[in-house]
Formats: sequence, structure tokens, C-alpha cells
Amino acid sequence: MNAPSSTGRTASLRDPFTAFVCDEATADLLRPIAVEHGWSPEKVNKGGLRNAVQTLSVSASPSILFVDLSESGDPLSDINALAEVCEPGTVVIAAGQVNDVRLYRDLVASGIQDYLLKPFSPDQLRDAFANAQLTISGPRVSEAASEKPNVMAAVIGVRGGVGASTIASSLAWLMGDKAGRSTALLDLDVHFGTGALGLDLEPGRGLTDAIENPSRIDGLFIERAMVRASDKLCVLSAEAPINQAMLTDGSAFFQLQEEIRHAFEGTVVDLPRNMLVQFPHLLNDVQAVVVVVEFTLAATRDAIRILSWLKANAPQAKVIVVANKSLAAGQEVTRKDFEHSIERKVDVALPFDPKAAMQAAKLGQPLAKSAKAAKLSQPFNQLLTAALEQAGEDSTQAGPASSSLLGKLGNFKALVSKKPREAEAA
Ligand SMILES: Nc1ncnc2c1ncn2[C@@H]1O[C@H](COP(=O)(O)OP(=O)(O)OP(=O)(O)O)[C@@H](O)[C@H]1O
Ligand SMILES: [Mg+2]
Repeated sequence: MNAPSSTGRTASLRDPFTAFVCDEATADLLRPIAVEHGWSPEKVNKGGLRNAVQTLSVSASPSILFVDLSESGDPLSDINALAEVCEPGTVVIAAGQVNDVRLYRDLVASGIQDYLLKPFSPDQLRDAFANAQLTISGPRVSEAASEKPNVMAAVIGVRGGVGASTIASSLAWLMGDKAGRSTALLDLDVHFGTGALGLDLEPGRGLTDAIENPSRIDGLFIERAMVRASDKLCVLSAEAPINQAMLTDGSAFFQLQEEIRHAFEGTVVDLPRNMLVQFPHLLNDVQAVVVVVEFTLAATRDAIRILSWLKANAPQAKVIVVANKSLAAGQEVTRKDFEHSIERKVDVALPFDPKAAMQAAKLGQPLAKSAKAAKLSQPFNQLLTAALEQAGEDSTQAGPASSSLLGKLGNFKALVSKKPREAEAA
């Protein structure tokens, strides 16, 4: 139905079917046909439209809703009350005793899929359900509107706190609002993610539900679960309870990527590096990997390891190295030494700007949106251009064809040995 959707929804997964009927005869007719469709006969409830409105105001809407209007004094205004509580995507079939084509037309205009005049036959009901299922499995608005092929970028921080999530939300916003692609930000830091928080949104239960029930993930699920941040940007994020471990083989994440790819023109995955170790297949279809680094020794070591891992495990992906929080001077490792160690250039450097970062957090906006100064907007634009470029041979590699991981780690060792010894420091 064309009901308004709220961002702070608490709905759990939707049932395939629920009915609210007014009499036992209608219930008796519905139950066996529900069973034919694989639906539970217990989903046939009493109470008609009134009960439907009450129930759906506190629970998730089903995919197909059958509602009996027989006891309704003013079916049209009652249907509008239903639209208020019914989530988008639900197909509503109504039944009633009023044989009036004007009412039928008005009901259809209010978002009802079909109106069955009572008493109706089992075959009429089967036809109505078949049409409802066709509507559900047919092309959705988002798919029909999606013209550009999806570009998927994953953002990985080589160390904690380097700013990977800041860059992921900024890149998603740039892809959406600047490049005009409908974009999804998929935050796979399921316990501590900030994808929703950073945009001043409630994460909802979509991602947690997906992990618990991967078999339910489909286009309709994505449509319901994504939380809208703007016209062009949606977010799927979670604050999963921290008293329970995440029990998943990763298939939910893979399926989410698949469905998002069909429904959006851009995907940005905020991918914690431990997920990369656990679920390497998440990078199978990614076109660009944004590796976020900082100029520290630990980040240098892990940048070497992650870049080498990517070469072996995601050779199709274009790698974009982004140095975040970079300072003009006084860093643990100089940019030159860092680039020598990783045997390639840094593609984009974002300066350390605590004021801008604080402002973005306070506004609940991506850093790329709130920061107007050229010193940040320029590198962000570079990042967007790089991410949208067709994946392929990485032309930004510096120097000769890079050597083995051991070779690079050798460079890293040399870098470490450049450090003043403790005794010297003392
Ligand atoms: N360029 C920057 N200048 C100053 N502060 C920044 C910059 N980029 C990010 N920050 C700040 O650094 C902090 C950590 O950022 P963020 O959460 O994006 O890092 P992360 O790599 O995703 O961390 P985690 O490892 O927890 O996932 C945030 O407070 C953010 O505002
Ligand atoms: Mg993060």
C-alpha cells in the first residue's frame, strides 16, 4: 500500500500472508486455500478491518494482506486508516458486501489490489492471490528506475579508527547526491557500526533480521529493510546486541550484496577487516576497494598485508589507497617511506581535520557533505572519480611491477630499523 514509511521502524521480517475476516464462512473458505499456498491457516484472524488496523499498527505488515470490510461503516476512510499503518510493499486484497463500482474504483485508487464481492468462490480467491504474487515478484519501482549498472566499492581500514566508516559514508553520499546514482551503504560492522548513527538515523532491525534469516532476503526485503537517508542514499546498518556472538556463515552478507546490486546503482560496503579474514568471498564481485591507511608503523605493516591479500583474493578489484588524517609534518612514518614500503603511491590524501570531523558528527552528516573547504572536498572528489572509474588494470601503481609480500615486508623491516633505538632515544 502507499503508506508513509518511517525511518525508525521496528518491524521484524514480514509474513507471506495474513487475513482478517468477519465471519466463520469466509475463514473456512480462506484456510484451505492458504494451506495450498504454503501459508499457515492460523494467519486467518477474526475481527475484519478494525483488527487489521490494530494489529498492523504494532507489528510488521505481511506481503499479502486479506481484509474483510463487511463490518466497516465507511470502507473508504477505514482503508485509509489501514494505509497509515500498513508498510509499503504489502499487497492488499479486500472483500465486502457492497456492490458499487464507485467504491471499487475508490478502493483501488487508495492502493487496494483487488476487491472481492462476497460471497466469492474459491477460484476467485485463488485468482486474486495469483495476481498478488505476480505483483510481488514483478519488477519493482527501484529496479525499473535503475538504469546504470551497479558499481560496488568496499571500504576497508587497515587499522581500527583510521576513519574507514567516515570515508565509507562520505563515498556513499558522494555517489548518491553528487553523482546522482541511487546508492546503498551496507555497514557490515554489525555490532559497533556507525553507518546509521553517523547519518542521524535509527538502524532498524533489517540487517540483524537478514543475518538471522538469510533465506528471507529478496528484493522486497531490501526495499523494506533499507533506511532512507536522502533521495539517493539508503543505509543498512545494525546495532546487534553485544551479549551474543554473530552466528553466520556469511551467506546473508553475500545475498544482501546481490539484492542491493539489483536494486541500486551504487553500493558502498563498510567492511571491517576481520570480516575480510572471515568471509573473503565478500570481495568476489567488488569493483573497487578503498583501503584506508594512516602514516603509522602498524598501518604500514597491515597495508602491506592487506594489499597483498587483495591482489591474491580480489584481483578484479581496482584498489584505491586513501591516507586519512594525514598531517603536513610530524607523523610516525613519512608519506615517502610509506609509499616505498607498500610499493605504490597513495591515491588520495585526506588531511587531519578534527574541527570538520566534529562538525559532521554534530550535524549527523557525512564528512564529505558537511565539510565545504577545498582541502577536504578536493580529495573526496578524487575518491569519487576513482571509485566510479571502470574497474580494471590499476594505473596508479608506482614503480616496477611490485614484488612479493616478503619483499615488501623487507622494505617495512628496513623502515622499522630506521627508528631510533630505545637506548638512543633515552
Ligand atoms: N580526516 C579526519 N580528521 C579528523 N578526524 C577524523 C578524520 N576522519 C575521521 N576522523 C574521526 O576519527 C574517528 C574514527 O573514525 P571512523 O569511525 O570513521 O573510523 P573507523 O576506521 O571506521 O573505526 P573502526 O575501526 O572503529 O571501525 C571519528 O571520530 C571520526 O570523526
Ligand atoms: Mg568503522
